[in-house]
Amino acid sequence: MNQGFWSKLKKPIIGLSPMDGVTDAAFRFIGAKYGKSHVHITEFTSAEGLAAGAVKLLDDFIYSDIERPVVAQIFGSDAEAFYKAGALVAALGFDGLDINMGCPARNVAEHGGGAALIRTPKLAQELIRAAKKGVKAWADGATLEDVGVHQAIIAQITDHKIYKSQTRNEIPVSVKTRIGYDAVVIEDWVKYLLEEEPAVISIHGRTLKQLYSGSADWDAIARAAQIIHETSTLAIGNGDAKDIGDAKAKIAAYGVDGVLIGRASFGNPWIFTDSAPSHDEKLRVAIEHARVFEELLPRKNFLHMRKHLCWYMSGFDGAKELRAALMQPSVKNAADVERIIGDWQRSAAPDLRLQESFATLIG
Ligand SMILES: Cc1cc2nc3c(=O)[nH]c(=O)nc-3n(C[C@H](O)[C@H](O)[C@H](O)COP(=O)(O)O)c2cc1C
Repeated sequence: MNQGFWSKLKKPIIGLSPMDGVTDAAFRFIGAKYGKSHVHITEFTSAEGLAAGAVKLLDDFIYSDIERPVVAQIFGSDAEAFYKAGALVAALGFDGLDINMGCPARNVAEHGGGAALIRTPKLAQELIRAAKKGVKAWADGATLEDVGVHQAIIAQITDHKIYKSQTRNEIPVSVKTRIGYDAVVIEDWVKYLLEEEPAVISIHGRTLKQLYSGSADWDAIARAAQIIHETSTLAIGNGDAKDIGDAKAKIAAYGVDGVLIGRASFGNPWIFTDSAPSHDEKLRVAIEHARVFEELLPRKNFLHMRKHLCWYMSGFDGAKELRAALMQPSVKNAADVERIIGDWQRSAAPDLRLQESFATLIG
């Protein structure tokens, strides 16, 4: 089995879970700089969209070397598109390719991709084989033209900063999934997946039907991990990890090789470390995040930054007012963010500093 970089990671593995609309290149860069995630995974990207030449999707595949190991995630249901995406992702210099078999969103699952694949295990297997074939074609020396990658995509990446690599590595292919569609079927489901020898199976402990309601079923993840551990595939659990201590406790309690942390990382790249940032640090990094966003993702609307700014602005006095100021329509770029935060610091900081030094004095 080709486990690639996964086998070299120090265990327990604690990684950043892929999140569409959140874990873009700027978020991952900031995460890598201030956190210590063992692995970064991109937002999922449509394999079929790439096959059709949707060059805008390449924005999802922008990454910085500081993130390594960095894995690209794809979704879809068409094997030919997975073959092409496998070669493309390898050519872009990613360390791994992950296949999304867990997304419950209608526009994904109703087209047979994401968590809908739990109901079509034969197709799921075909997709893994196709992605691996694409990765191998690249490793064996095929060009993207040979593989049939869309000309518009090739043209875009050839002269683009995301075009990283001419190395011919056979990168590992992994799967991220859920414990079932409308009922828990994870034991049977992982057996199908294991027949295709993915490097890793990451499992979010909810069914598609549950979406994000209730609690993640870690007992189901543990049962799956036992089955997975009869092979050399790694088992990673996911769902509701609050912080690094909670992630480590779950790893010990449920017998997984690692945990992916998702929502708890919102506005908190420090989650992968043991340190808590001061509010000044939060503000400084919020500004830096906005600047990195502009630099790495110039084609994206700055509105995408808003939610991140809101997430940073929490947990200190005056955060609510600062959030409101940053949500004004007049805030259109990183310079505006810096100005608003600077103004706020000049007016509110003396009070806050006083509070902080008082808190230090009284221990
Ligand atoms: C906004 C959002 C977007 C997500 N997008 C993806 C995605 O692109 N690919 C994926 O595999 N999972 C995606 N997920 C699921 C998360 O990776 C993770 O499995 C889920 O949030 C549970 O982990 P958590 O409780 O640590 O957040 C997304 C979740 C959220 C909240």
